[in-house]
Amino acid sequence: MKVLVTGCAGFVGYHVARRLLADGDAVVGLDNLGPYYDPALKRARVAALRAAGPLEFHVGDLAEFELLRALAADVDVVVHLAAQPGVRHALVDPFSYERSNLLGMLDVLEVVRRRTPPPRLVWASSSSVYGGNVRTPFAETDRVDDPVSLYAATKRAGELMVHSYRHLFGLQALGLRFFTVYGPWGRPDMAYWRFAEALFDDRPLELYGDTAASRDMTYIDDVVDGVVAAVRRPVPDELLNLGNAEPIPLERLVETVERAVGRTGRRLSGPAQPGDVATTFADLERSKAALGYEPRVRLEEGIARFVEWYRWWRSVR
Ligand code: NAD
Ligand code: UGA
Repeated sequence: MKVLVTGCAGFVGYHVARRLLADGDAVVGLDNLGPYYDPALKRARVAALRAAGPLEFHVGDLAEFELLRALAADVDVVVHLAAQPGVRHALVDPFSYERSNLLGMLDVLEVVRRRTPPPRLVWASSSSVYGGNVRTPFAETDRVDDPVSLYAATKRAGELMVHSYRHLFGLQALGLRFFTVYGPWGRPDMAYWRFAEALFDDRPLELYGDTAASRDMTYIDDVVDGVVAAVRRPVPDELLNLGNAEPIPLERLVETVERAVGRTGRRLSGPAQPGDVATTFADLERSKAALGYEPRVRLEEGIARFVEWYRWWRSVR
């Protein structure tokens, strides 16, 4: 197959592209290498991808419509992962979410629907759309009209835009709601990375809000299994959860990172951050049925793999 991966220099995009290359698929990648976190990490991911297989990579923005159109001209599937992520950063730079997650989503939809026949679209939504919902586990059939961050609102808006394009143009488009993905080559803004970094730097670990707050942390290889299954297998579903179905309290995450690093750190308690939710917990019945999705990697194993990679990254960066 030939697949366009947007956000291919990002954490999830890198791993998806790598798996596709390993499977012998032709991969076209697009990424603007934006400065939300160290672009050197993004460039290192692209270099690692190039070493893994014949990647066709383009530096460019989703808003470069003709470029996007040309890249999608002969692909079978568009895997759209480029976005402005991060729940808390939306209070700092709200317009970056507008550009990448609203306008960028529309660019992708217009490119897809203008092609004859349209390629299939598989794209990244987020567990954050479940917002302030209290009933767990979160199922795709739950109402999702209480986003508590702008990030969540833009991801939900993306889901509604895709819904309308499926209706108007008969697109085959599947949104995958990822639940707090972690692993090697991960994102420096996320809690597990920040805890490991603080331990290595001998700085205190900043814990926001209630340490009983939990996240359904999902190992990257499991998420890649789900994404690649969706690339291979057209499904009628519009939205599916990709999580781990085991919410991890913040305190347990800290202890797991400490064990993997081999040090304990001082904890600095900070206030709960606006936009954060109390818990996330995926119902996986539908993704199991549609994609054969079955997460396998437990937190201890996944964090150990991340820390092993992170030691290496610190030695080469
Ligand atoms: P990431 O920031 O590592 O990757 C996103 C990539 O998209 C980056 O390399 C960035 O440079 C690129 N990008 C952003 N805006 C762009 C634009 N306008 N044009 C071109 N490239 C652009 O983040 P990630 O964790 O790999 O996330 C991938 C996708 O999964 C995103 O859509 C994110 O919202 C979603 N998601 C991630 C998680 C998670 O826990 N990692 C959870 C839920 C959803
Ligand atoms: C993560 C990603 O960052 C989002 O891009 C993604 O969309 C989202 O998952 C999702 O599942 O949809 P989040 O769950 O907030 O968002 O993950 P982290 O950024 O790792 O934060 C997890 C928890 O740790 C939060 O409660 C946060 O407040 C806390 N935290 C974070 C700390 O206590 N200290 C830190 O230094 C960083």
